Amino acid sequence: PRPILLTRHGESRDNVRGRIGGDTVLSGQGEVYAKKLSNFVEKRLKNERAASIWTSTLQRTILTANQIVGFPKIQWRALDEINAGVCDGMTYEEIKKNMPEEYESRKKDKLRYRYPRGESYLDVIQRLEPVIIELERQRAPVVVVSHQAVLRALYAYFADRPLKEIPHIEGISWLHKLAQTPTTTKKHEHMHTQS
Ligand code: G3H
Repeated sequence: PRPILLTRHGESRDNVRGRIGGDTVLSGQGEVYAKKLSNFVEKRLKNERAASIWTSTLQRTILTANQIVGFPKIQWRALDEINAGVCDGMTYEEIKKNMPEEYESRKKDKLRYRYPRGESYLDVIQRLEPVIIELERQRAPVVVVSHQAVLRALYAYFADRPLKEIPHIEGISWLHKLAQTPTTTKKHEHMHTQS
């Protein structure tokens, strides 16, 4: 079956500082990851001429896919990370300290909680619909380089996980363990990794 490979972007500079959102470039470790990913993808998809690489419009996914050569790349705004609205650029500690009510409401219902002037997981799930339709339509392998919240939603769709689990899915991270066998489901392969 045609694989769909899901991967998070390489570590970004904001990830290193614990800041959510933003649009920073990769850290040194993120660069190393991008290199490993390109080796893996080029090897894994070497006979798949029609394969394509899908990223978000944010630098960290574009830079992660940058070194993969030989396949067309498509940017989707719908693959951008959950919009943290007024909390964009903050650490979780700062949110807890400066906006304790927001922090608590998110903790209570992470699926429905919408960041002020931003999005909820439900919003993300909804905006992913056209991406999912397009993914279902593809005949060739697709590598999706995206972000944690988005990948949780995509993974849940293909692995048939219930809605309420989506914001809590763990193990969607960087491919330090690229060489290991990815988890395989009926419809797709998820590059299952640890941070
Ligand atoms: O910056 C956003 C994170 O990737 C999403 O993580 O929904 O667990 O806070 P979270």
